[in-house]
Amino acid sequence: MASSTPQGSRPALPSVRRATEADVRSLAALWALAFPGERSAEERARGLREGGAWGGIENCWVATTGSRLDGAFRTLPLVMHLLGRPVPTLGLAAVAVAPHARRRGLGAHLCRAALRIGRDRGDLLAALYPFRTDFYARLGFALAGELHRYRFPPEALPAFDGVDRVYACDDPLATLPSLYETLLPSSHGLVKRSSKRWEAVLAASPLAFGIHGRGGASPEGTPRGYLLGSLRKLPRGAGREFRVTEFLAADRDSYRAGLGWLSAQRDAWRQVTLDALPGEQLHGLLTHPQLAGTSNARVLWFPSATILRGPMVRILDTGGLLERLQPARGTVLDLEDSEVPENRGRWEVATDGSAGVRRTGEPGPDALHIADASALLAAGRFPGLELPRPGFSPLLGLPDFRLLDDF
Ligand SMILES: CC(C)(COP(=O)(O)OP(=O)(O)OC[C@H]1O[C@@H](n2cnc3c(N)ncnc32)[C@H](O)[C@@H]1OP(=O)(O)O)[C@@H](O)C(=O)NCCC(=O)NCCS
Repeated sequence: MASSTPQGSRPALPSVRRATEADVRSLAALWALAFPGERSAEERARGLREGGAWGGIENCWVATTGSRLDGAFRTLPLVMHLLGRPVPTLGLAAVAVAPHARRRGLGAHLCRAALRIGRDRGDLLAALYPFRTDFYARLGFALAGELHRYRFPPEALPAFDGVDRVYACDDPLATLPSLYETLLPSSHGLVKRSSKRWEAVLAASPLAFGIHGRGGASPEGTPRGYLLGSLRKLPRGAGREFRVTEFLAADRDSYRAGLGWLSAQRDAWRQVTLDALPGEQLHGLLTHPQLAGTSNARVLWFPSATILRGPMVRILDTGGLLERLQPARGTVLDLEDSEVPENRGRWEVATDGSAGVRRTGEPGPDALHIADASALLAAGRFPGLELPRPGFSPLLGLPDFRLLDDF
């Protein structure tokens, strides 16, 4: 593979090449140092050789000076569902610069190289979890989505019926992946999962409960929803907390059954932690949605949930993405993109549906920056693709951006 370094602009920075078996040891050592407290260098080396939930050495890239490793990153081949449509997505992960090479532009240089690699292989979007938002905002990424973390005693939830339809999954790998797969066309943000990825998800959340539909198990045994989580002891002998890590339901009835089941566990657990989408309006269901252990924060106002922010997304290929998502006919959009110049310009969607999406000229003075356009896309407010839109029925009627996986 030829170098992916942008030509000319930063001659002092090393070029980027695909990693090989010979890089495994130094890569594993760099990542163990850059991400302390996660996996050891030995575990990382094994994962790279054998292939883990996100693949192995084949999606790793390095920048070296002589035999010395200066930096690295991974280009995960994700398929994210945006507005229900599958979108090939660059998962930019494990960006790391060796301590000797930091703060001279190499981190940004690696990200630019990754964007180019993603575009060249046909990715339409890029996604990542930032160590610091402004670093990636300069490269065109925007924060996507939001979760509200509620902590409450189980009895704060209504005792919705359907509790008896929730069951402990003996073999979650046999049924949950197929349910998840059927939900993808009604999701905005979920990524397709391999079976290895499912194994990793279930290993991290050892408790798995399925939710049957009202008529009982479907002929295939596929549930209508599921809850994943783990239990932990609360400090000072205050009982146990059930931390819900995933809660997906195909319909409102199964969603309520899941909540009713959590409510029914009040004599077993003292606390539930649940991350809800803003659109779920969970505060409206709780008897008193005040965060456990807090007092009023602003005279009579009380803390209710913690806002969690996670992924950032970036449009990589405007023309390809618009072709895939099919904005309203006649949409005209001016874009600025200093990192990926192919995105820059005036984009027009044909009025008669014949010529598709075309770049027709220079952007006007009020052009959207690519990061702002990416933010609008995640929020369901991209010009010509505003929600609600025909042909897309979001899960539970909630159009919020929802990405459960981290990478
Ligand atoms: C995060 C990390 C990759 C950044 O790498 P880096 O090579 O230092 O990044 P850059 O040099 O491109 O940018 C860092 C800063 O140095 C500045 N900088 C770049 N060249 C510079 C120069 N010649 N002189 C002074 N400052 C410079 C950049 O403008 C940037 O400024 P900011 O603090 O305002 O954002 C690196 O610190 C690292 O590996 N950390 C541990 C792992 C990690 O957190 N990875 C991120 C995963 S999302």
